Amino acid sequence: MPTPSSSQHLPFGENKNAEWYGKDIISVKQFKREDLEYVFGVAHEMRGMVERVGTFDLLKGKILANLFYEPSTRTSSSFTAAMERLGGSVIPINEVKYSSVTKGESLPDTVRTLESYADVIVLRHPETGSAAIAAKAARKPVINAGDGTGEHPTQALLDTFTIFEELGAGLIDGMTVTMLGDLKYGRTVHSLARLLSLYKVRLNYVSPDILRMPKEVMDEVAEKNIPQAEFSSLEKVLSETDVLYVTRVQKERFEDPADYEKVKGAYVIDPAIMKAAKKDMIVMHPLPRVGEISTDFDDDPRAAYFRQMEYGLYVRMALLAMVLGKA
Ligand code: ASP
Ligand code: CP
Repeated sequence: MPTPSSSQHLPFGENKNAEWYGKDIISVKQFKREDLEYVFGVAHEMRGMVERVGTFDLLKGKILANLFYEPSTRTSSSFTAAMERLGGSVIPINEVKYSSVTKGESLPDTVRTLESYADVIVLRHPETGSAAIAAKAARKPVINAGDGTGEHPTQALLDTFTIFEELGAGLIDGMTVTMLGDLKYGRTVHSLARLLSLYKVRLNYVSPDILRMPKEVMDEVAEKNIPQAEFSSLEKVLSETDVLYVTRVQKERFEDPADYEKVKGAYVIDPAIMKAAKKDMIVMHPLPRVGEISTDFDDDPRAAYFRQMEYGLYVRMALLAMVLGKA
């Protein structure tokens, strides 16, 4: 493990030939099992360093442009914290309405502008495919922080890291992961189902009929021979579940508000329901929650959703170090 006194003892030398140097992170499809081992190994080191020294100079002099066209608390602030804990700095564009986007500037031009000043761009945008468009326009690395209903790859990486840290990496093969809620519009579950298909997991999808997991995602997962099953009620699968991944119904994605009203309170996790679950399972949520997990459950040791946010910091530190050639 690195010594806390000096960043020169870090195991991360600058390496422009490193596999992830200068790469965009657009989709979880870019990651193989070995890549995850690598990312999580670096994230683990980052955790140790943050616990021992707080902030260190691995990315001193580097600048991140945080470009958010949609609201965010965790992703935006954890990327900021990640960059600052690594000694770098951030250009925050969290409210594009105060930027030249309001004057009609296109996404490619905005990205070209920001890369004139920054070394890496983190982008959240309401349109699926926008991160790939931005990456095509940019010479510098673009990291997808959520593109519409498409993907949220850094969330899926931190979700998988959470499962490893909480339940043990060695136990992932054979686990049953149950995803609950809005599986149609929830980009986090689109990325997570794809990423977990690198392991021998069993996936259950529990949702209202109108919010089922998209066929495209299920087909990709099926190609990896991962057992998948769909349900409308949690009851049938809760007792066998090792990870319950709860999601918010994505109100902002509905074309017809009446449809949202029909499904908004479909599932609520509370201590009574959780009596049927294993003692050593965990409940996760990408957050924000808007009622789908009762606050009465927060003190249960199985409630991993607040710890999950912290794991995100270490994974994002690892990703920034990797694409900037320092890991
Ligand atoms: N924060 C996550 C996302 O941006 C999940 C959510 O908003 O419900 O996709
Ligand atoms: N999990 C997540 O992406 O949270 P934010 O929308 O607050 O960034």
